[in-house]
Amino acid sequence: MTKRYSVAIPVAVLCLGGMAALQRIGAQQPGRAGASPETPTQSLSPAERIAREARAAGIELRGETSYAPVSEPDFGPLMQKMSAAKAGVMKRQMDLLEQRYDMSDRPASGVAMSKGKAVQGGVRVKLPQGVTWEQLGAMTPDEIRTKKLFPPGFLPLPHPNHPEGGMVFPQFHIDEVKKQTGRDLARFDLDLDLPDHFLPEFPPPMYLTTRTDLGDVSQGKLVTSENFYELFNGILTPKQIEGLRLLVTPFPQQQFNGTADRRSERPSLGVTCFDCHVNGHTNAATHLVGDIRPQAFRHRIDIPTLRGVNVQRLFGSQRALRTVEDFTEFEQRAAYFDGDPVIATKKGMNILERGSQVHDMAEFQELLNFPPAPKLTVFGTLDESRATPEELRGQTLFFGKGKCGVCHVAPYYTDNNMHDLQTERFYSAHMINGRVAASDGPIKTFPLRGIKDSPPYLHDGRLLTLEDTVEFFNLVLGLKLTAQEKSDIVAFMRVL
Ligand code: HEC
Ligand code: HEC
Repeated sequence: MTKRYSVAIPVAVLCLGGMAALQRIGAQQPGRAGASPETPTQSLSPAERIAREARAAGIELRGETSYAPVSEPDFGPLMQKMSAAKAGVMKRQMDLLEQRYDMSDRPASGVAMSKGKAVQGGVRVKLPQGVTWEQLGAMTPDEIRTKKLFPPGFLPLPHPNHPEGGMVFPQFHIDEVKKQTGRDLARFDLDLDLPDHFLPEFPPPMYLTTRTDLGDVSQGKLVTSENFYELFNGILTPKQIEGLRLLVTPFPQQQFNGTADRRSERPSLGVTCFDCHVNGHTNAATHLVGDIRPQAFRHRIDIPTLRGVNVQRLFGSQRALRTVEDFTEFEQRAAYFDGDPVIATKKGMNILERGSQVHDMAEFQELLNFPPAPKLTVFGTLDESRATPEELRGQTLFFGKGKCGVCHVAPYYTDNNMHDLQTERFYSAHMINGRVAASDGPIKTFPLRGIKDSPPYLHDGRLLTLEDTVEFFNLVLGLKLTAQEKSDIVAFMRVL
């Protein structure tokens, strides 16, 4: 058996050495892995139960090492092999998505993102055969787990190629960056898996707290190194312009760099902050979180918007860094290289200077405002003269029976805290395409202001619509909401 390391690069080597081994990991599906319905797991503690299920599913709880080897592959053959494997890797991922979700293009009526892109409607997570949402909502977590009835779309979502990981950008972003700057963000081994209609609008509008009078200051453009100066000279301070310059300047990263151990056809200058946090928002590019080992336990992560970082006090889904300055430094020193400074040194570590660079970049990020929400008052709740009866009912449910407001506190709909939703109560530990589904742990309460603009949802993007999030919380929190109540809460979230 090929040695199994716990970080991105070596698993690529594993890819080369044995796609077969990879596929074996990927072939383990919920039905076959984990405890059988007969296993008497109810009396065990959650951790004991999960450890037992993981053992039964052949999941290694510990990697052989936390470090990636500093090796230099032969680039030509590497690219050839990985490009050849791409179609198979993508098919495996698309089959998984197909099994989980209804991915058709069905816009919801009467709602759009801030610049007009359609918002997808309806519950897209597929139900297991033979049950309805109402029946599921009436069952206990133990019952759902032992009967294997947790909808697969509610399970952790793997990266398009989980054992390999790394940054993957949407095609529309790759095309526009190439057109404007000549930089190529295409990977020869992987594409983003989610269809465009489930992604945020592109390029997204950009709103500044300091100049709300201007509306969208991006003028409908993707802000890059080519145009940031002409767009912002005269509306930002020189310090903020310098911060923005650094946010649109490429620096080396694990997949995009000048070494032979890269995933772009040509040597690359790297990526910019705004390649993911496009125009200070998000393009739903994806990545693996840097702070977990071994590889199979790392979470896929959907890019969070930077709109409203100014009102937040906790950064990263689990990292819990306390300031935007800290996160700005952390991105290039750790997240860009899977939390491994050894490999970073090889590929081109860029150490930002705290006083003159980090602070400027953070200062600009702190200007990024939430999009306008014309139906909200200064308290962040509905203006009754503008809201529909449905939205008002939704608000009452949000703060009442739905308990959403316990964690999503107005006016920004976050409590600046983390919560463990304990979704593992509903399923047995198992492997999904190289990703361990065992437990998520505590996750940041992401703000819901402007939430219709930032699909997909949850830290790993496992939910495609707001309707999905309501079904998810209905089950996870045991709310027993009626169909009407669910659609009222969705209507409320669409105007936040
Ligand atoms: C893969 C594309 C990617 C790039 C490039 C990137 N980020 Fe991020 N950023 C993320 C992801 C994913 C997260 C969430 C991480 C997590 O959940 O732990 C994040 C989180 C953040 C956060 C915290 C947001 C929150 O709501 O908790 C800040 C601030 C941030 N990034 C700033 C930056 C800066 C500054 C740069 C450039 C130095 C940068 N990012 C480059 C993907 C990216
Ligand atoms: C116990 C605290 C808690 C309660 C109660 C709660 N949430 Fe959340 N919510 C969270 C956390 C934590 C996350 C992030 C989870 C993750 O990413 O895995 C989240 C994420 C979300 C998201 C996705 C945010 C994003 O940016 O992707 C939506 C939408 C949401 N919640 C809606 C609701 C609704 C609607 C309710 C009530 C029916 C609700 N929440 C109740 C804590 C809570």
